Amino acid sequence: MNNIWEPIINIIREYSKNNKNHSVEKIFALQQSLQPYLDKYDFIKTEKLPYGRYLVHKDIDNDFNIQIDVFSENYTGQIHCHETWGILHVFRGFLFVEDWEELSNNKFRMRSGSILNPGSSQTFCPPVSDWHKVSSSNSKYQVISMHIYGNGFNIDKGIYLDSEYNRKEGKRSNFKEIDSINRILKNKIFSDLTNIYLGQKN
Ligand SMILES: [Fe+2]
Repeated sequence: MNNIWEPIINIIREYSKNNKNHSVEKIFALQQSLQPYLDKYDFIKTEKLPYGRYLVHKDIDNDFNIQIDVFSENYTGQIHCHETWGILHVFRGFLFVEDWEELSNNKFRMRSGSILNPGSSQTFCPPVSDWHKVSSSNSKYQVISMHIYGNGFNIDKGIYLDSEYNRKEGKRSNFKEIDSINRILKNKIFSDLTNIYLGQKN
């Protein structure tokens, strides 16, 4: 296998090809089918990486893209949305996730909170509110997570709320070199993943 992320890319590509309308139920089913594969990506715990985002895959028709985020210590993000479906999966460390919803113009309230540990993931899909906020406070290990976004995702510009809950647009940071992510994966996943993937195909 040339690309160690290929099993993930293939499952999402297959889903996107067969589904043009999305729902929380469908994205949750996709999340479930990805779980056995995502579970296999085992990162060396202690090695630190430059924080930022790393591009795993961008679909040629922009039906989906896959990114990895490496968080700085005590990172607290802004409330933001992606206006498309998404799956968030944690590989290392843990993330605090707040889910928010818009009540009326400029009025927002938090509706739930979760703590995602390694191996945990979360799904969202509009029109159910996809406003959320993540933070990495108190995580012992540097947090590494995967973010899968659906069709129409703007890879360059993000939508977020300022402290007065006004909607703003901001430029996203540039991608960093994915090889530095691949390098700190434990080698055994190559053969494990190939075996599972081929096993399911046959
Ligand atoms: Fe997000």
